[in-house]
Amino acid sequence: MKDILNAPFMVEMTRTTTNMYQQGWDERNGGNISLMLEREQVEDYLERGKVLRAIPTGFSAPELEGKYFLVTGTGKYFKNVRYEPEEDLGLVRLTDGGAQAQLLWGFAGGGSFTSEFPAHMMSHAARLKVDAGNRVVMHCHPVNLLAMTYVHDLDERAFTRTLWQMSTECLVVFPEGVNVLPWMLCGTAEIGRVTAEKMGTARLVVWAQHGIYGAGGSLDETFGLIETAEKAAEVYLKIAHLPRRNTITDEQLHLLEQRFNVKARPGFLD
Ligand code: 13P
Ligand code: ZN
Repeated sequence: MKDILNAPFMVEMTRTTTNMYQQGWDERNGGNISLMLEREQVEDYLERGKVLRAIPTGFSAPELEGKYFLVTGTGKYFKNVRYEPEEDLGLVRLTDGGAQAQLLWGFAGGGSFTSEFPAHMMSHAARLKVDAGNRVVMHCHPVNLLAMTYVHDLDERAFTRTLWQMSTECLVVFPEGVNVLPWMLCGTAEIGRVTAEKMGTARLVVWAQHGIYGAGGSLDETFGLIETAEKAAEVYLKIAHLPRRNTITDEQLHLLEQRFNVKARPGFLD
């Protein structure tokens, strides 16, 4: 059996949590990640048939039956993952229509998956319906996006347009825009359900006064998606209190659509 700590998915997960912590997106235990894996990717690293324990999920997700997920633990600090991956991460397999998670590795010392597991799993199911290549759901608390939700209109069109105007690459990176949820109690199946609903039309879902969810085909891609939106929010906060002399016009955003062969969310551009 190969050492799971050297598995490519483990190395990448550890690097990503460290990187996110260094960006200031994941204070204390803030943030969580789930990475969907195929049996072929994990089988060489696990003892065949060995289940450490079964953890009830509290929801059903029949679409994810039998799927494997490497996921961050509840209450665990992203800054520590590289030093104690076996405590802070777990590899689970969903069974019983998603109602149970079999713990196959990790969460040493009795830990469990993130309290946002419902939002993660329901978001995976929602993204897979529109993008079979989706593998990652990532949640974090980036300071500028979070700050922006206190001062900006939360209307999705208005919020998206502001981000698109703050940096030329935004429309190219997230042409579908961002979806926004008002403040809600986190860690519940309900916020999971509405987040997943929002994931049907965009890979970025802002949780007002809390943080953001991103989804994508890889950890790198999902990190980059959040990074791009977060940088645009930073520019916005630097200029929001100043008279705006220039902007990126809708005409210019249409030029970006043509040049980069992307389509802006219908109705979001004039
Ligand atoms: P967990 O420690 O349970 O992952 O929660 C962190 C968080 O960001 C909640 O939204
Ligand atoms: Zn959070």
